[in-house]
Amino acid sequence: MLHSALLNVMVKAARRAGRSLKRDLGEIEHLQVSLKGPANFVSAADKRAEELLYDELTKARPGYGFIGEEGGTREGTDKANVWIVDPLDGTTNFLHGMPHFAISIALQREGALIAGLIYNPANDDLFFAERGKGAFLNDQRLRVAGRKLLNESVIACGLPHIGRGDFGIAAEELRTIQPKVAGLRRFGAASLDLAWVAAGRLDGYWERNLSPWDMAAGIVLVREAGGFASDITGGDKILETGDIIVGNEHIQRELVRVLKPIGNK
Ligand code: IPD
Ligand code: CA
Ligand code: CA
Repeated sequence: MLHSALLNVMVKAARRAGRSLKRDLGEIEHLQVSLKGPANFVSAADKRAEELLYDELTKARPGYGFIGEEGGTREGTDKANVWIVDPLDGTTNFLHGMPHFAISIALQREGALIAGLIYNPANDDLFFAERGKGAFLNDQRLRVAGRKLLNESVIACGLPHIGRGDFGIAAEELRTIQPKVAGLRRFGAASLDLAWVAAGRLDGYWERNLSPWDMAAGIVLVREAGGFASDITGGDKILETGDIIVGNEHIQRELVRVLKPIGNK
């Protein structure tokens, strides 16, 4: 499939970092048994992937800024363009040798998200989208699912864990949502949750307390696949609040209606 010059740059960078992570995943499998465990190894894999991405993306677009989860913000001379990158989304899955993690690359131009790519090197799923040009999985065009009712829908979410998130709000969200849906899922990689909504595999997804690099690429994918993305209140402050709800028009609106009151008492 022919890509634009911009997407070619993103695909090349993602595949280069993906080869590194795929090698590291192979190492993890036998590191699980070592006393020290793979934690230090994974953080090294994470940082290595980000440096490979930084090297490729800044070689191709030298002036662009770069916001990466591991290395923070690196200003560019071209203030209109900035990469928003998570080199390894789904770190805990990766740490446990689970092949459900992704490289997430987004480009923000003059404040607007114009391109997103989410790549799982473990199964070679390459999700990508450019504003106005549709969303794709490899060479297959994507469309969000058409289900209109929560009671026929499978919804993904994030769940707090030790040291992260608000347990009270999450418990209230689950108590509210569980009786209304056909299924709930928690896969552990926000970028792939968003990509799976764009692909119609999930009918919707919500999560709080995320970072821009978890969401930026997935927002482009969902919107280009005909879906809707908002913050918990239904507004457009997703990157600012770190809260996101996505789905087709009906499901996204239903999730906002049900979730908005929670935590806003
Ligand atoms: C995490 C994953 C996870 C989400 C966490 C994120 P990381 O990203 O996306 O699904 O629930 O909030 O921090 O830390 O693995 O890059
Ligand atoms: Ca992440
Ligand atoms: Ca990460």
